[in-house]
Amino acid sequence: MKSSLSRYWESFRDAEILVSDDPSAYRGLPLEALCTDPDDILRIISHPLIEGDWVDLGSGYGHTVLTYAEQFPERKAIGIEKELSRVELSRKISQDLNLPSLFIHADLLHSEIPSAKTYFLYFPQGHVLDRILSVLQRKKNIFLVAIESHGDLFHRLNKEKWLELSASIPIQGKRHDSIARIYFSQGLGVSLQGLHEYSFREYFFAILQDEVTWLGESFGLYASVDAYTLVHPPRTIDEREVVKIMTMDELSLQEKFLVELRRLGEIQITADGKRYAGTLRKIITSPAFSVELSSGERIEWQSIQSIKQGQHTCYDSSVTSSLGPFFLPPAL
Ligand SMILES: C[S@@+](CC[C@H](N)C(=O)[O-])C[C@H]1O[C@@H](n2cnc3c(N)ncnc32)[C@H](O)[C@@H]1O
Repeated sequence: MKSSLSRYWESFRDAEILVSDDPSAYRGLPLEALCTDPDDILRIISHPLIEGDWVDLGSGYGHTVLTYAEQFPERKAIGIEKELSRVELSRKISQDLNLPSLFIHADLLHSEIPSAKTYFLYFPQGHVLDRILSVLQRKKNIFLVAIESHGDLFHRLNKEKWLELSASIPIQGKRHDSIARIYFSQGLGVSLQGLHEYSFREYFFAILQDEVTWLGESFGLYASVDAYTLVHPPRTIDEREVVKIMTMDELSLQEKFLVELRRLGEIQITADGKRYAGTLRKIITSPAFSVELSSGERIEWQSIQSIKQGQHTCYDSSVTSSLGPFFLPPAL
């Protein structure tokens, strides 16, 4: 197999100047680290397991997609990429070479992932990767091809029991691990297997650390090699610290109020005549029901008189009504 794409390599380097300074775009990274080596792409796509339509998730300058389209013009080749300047150059090359490739400018945190037989992943760990995996696991009979450069992607993929390692292909790019891996998936359906499976769903964890139990949210959590990072509150936890997993319906009225209040940001609390300000971090359910603010201060629920967000009173302990003393802002 030979490819005419390598002659565009230097134009990728020049185009880097147009890339945004969003850290996930890796602007300024040497091209050899940002992209899969052109000869390695040929090595990978000539493997007998590679078949059907190809989607590169985070396609960069699109050269895996362009190479695939050049070699297999009868198959679909699609790239999804967040950086517009990279997408535009990919489209331009596709036009120049009259290739049947498609480039979608989108953020993989939310975008649809088109159906294909083979997906390509050279992507860092984090919540976008977790979101990609949560979509892919519902697709049936697909191949996932991965390369890595930081020693984290393969570890992360090992956590996904639905991925079955089918082949390892030696590659030579100097900035990459010396093998590309091909995984096969029959599709997981809807069963759950690890904490990362709860990301992008509304679940709540009771987390026991140092004899204190507090509530964390599953939404947006992501997995690293040996820990999980939550968004609400921004804390890293170990899977073994989760003692219970609950839906919103299983929370008490106070807990429901506090998890929604935590998403609002800055609040002011008056308790025992003292005033506190900050964002709500831990909602502590035992030994004593209390809250912890971003300042590190802990306040027992019993002592709280009021909670405000700006001018809006969200909680007033002196009010007794059938709905309780909770008044979240109307948008919620
Ligand atoms: C390491 S590069 C890989 C490029 C290409 N797949 C290759 O192998 O040559 C990862 C690419 O993912 C893109 N990316 C990062 N976050 C993204 C997101 N949320 N949605 C879409 N693309 C993203 C980056 O801009 C970058 O171009």
